[in-house]
Amino acid sequence: MVTQNDWNVELYLKFRNERTQPSIDLVSGISVESPKSIIDIGCGPGNSTQVLAGRWPAAGITGLDNSPSMIERAKKDYPSQEWILADVMDVDSSVKYDIVFSNATIQWIPDHKQLIDAMWKLVNDNGALAVQMPLYNAMPVCGAVERAASGRWPQLDSVMEIFTFHEPGYYYDVLSFLSEKVNMWVTDYLHIMDSHKSILEMTKSAGLKPYMDRLKSEDDKHEFESEVLRNIKEAYPAQENRRVIFPFKRLFFIAYK
Ligand SMILES: C[S@@+](CC[C@H](N)C(=O)[O-])C[C@H]1O[C@@H](n2cnc3c(N)ncnc32)[C@H](O)[C@@H]1O
Repeated sequence: MVTQNDWNVELYLKFRNERTQPSIDLVSGISVESPKSIIDIGCGPGNSTQVLAGRWPAAGITGLDNSPSMIERAKKDYPSQEWILADVMDVDSSVKYDIVFSNATIQWIPDHKQLIDAMWKLVNDNGALAVQMPLYNAMPVCGAVERAASGRWPQLDSVMEIFTFHEPGYYYDVLSFLSEKVNMWVTDYLHIMDSHKSILEMTKSAGLKPYMDRLKSEDDKHEFESEVLRNIKEAYPAQENRRVIFPFKRLFFIAYK
């Protein structure tokens, strides 16, 4: 088992707007009357948690994440909120919430049936489970990274196994077993990036991270990154003004109890 380095919070927040828009869209799709308690699972540095707090200022909101650096930053930026450093699979299901929310997190966690069952146990009656996950595996940038990784560094061969993605139908089958009312949608965000390098940087603080964690020498990291950038340039044509459209596919689902 290869250990993963902690998150680079600064780099993650460099693309705060692109990363937070899905939380805004997911929150606006939730129909729960005056929720009193909300948990944000995989809250990161608290960006998604603030969207919840903005819509429901009177609710008690807890942010939970298993990354020390993410929780440290959330505590520093939003000291009045409650932050828990823990793995979602270790959460005590005797404490329940009106909304169990998770943005851009579940792809990092294996066994989504087990995970959804665990999150569902945290939902109060008349509450909701609301999740967004990037469909990174279906995006050209994923192919750009995998092509750069293949053949040259054996330790990168199995990195994709870290991630878990399924088709929308998988999530519908799991959720419809639990809930009578399930809403699902997919959005392709068209992020306008300053350059191809910006796509690389945005990817570096998420999908590319486990690859970089497995490369130990600076030379290898540099060579790998250059190869990824070359592939990104091939996959995403620049516009006339040199900016680059970076389509980013995300799956949303909300299930009501
Ligand atoms: C891409 S960030 C999302 C942060 C924030 N929710 C947002 O919308 O930008 C994913 C977060 O999930 C957390 N995470 C991954 N696996 C987790 C687990 N098993 N339990 C709790 N948090 C986890 C990571 O530490 C990271 O902060």
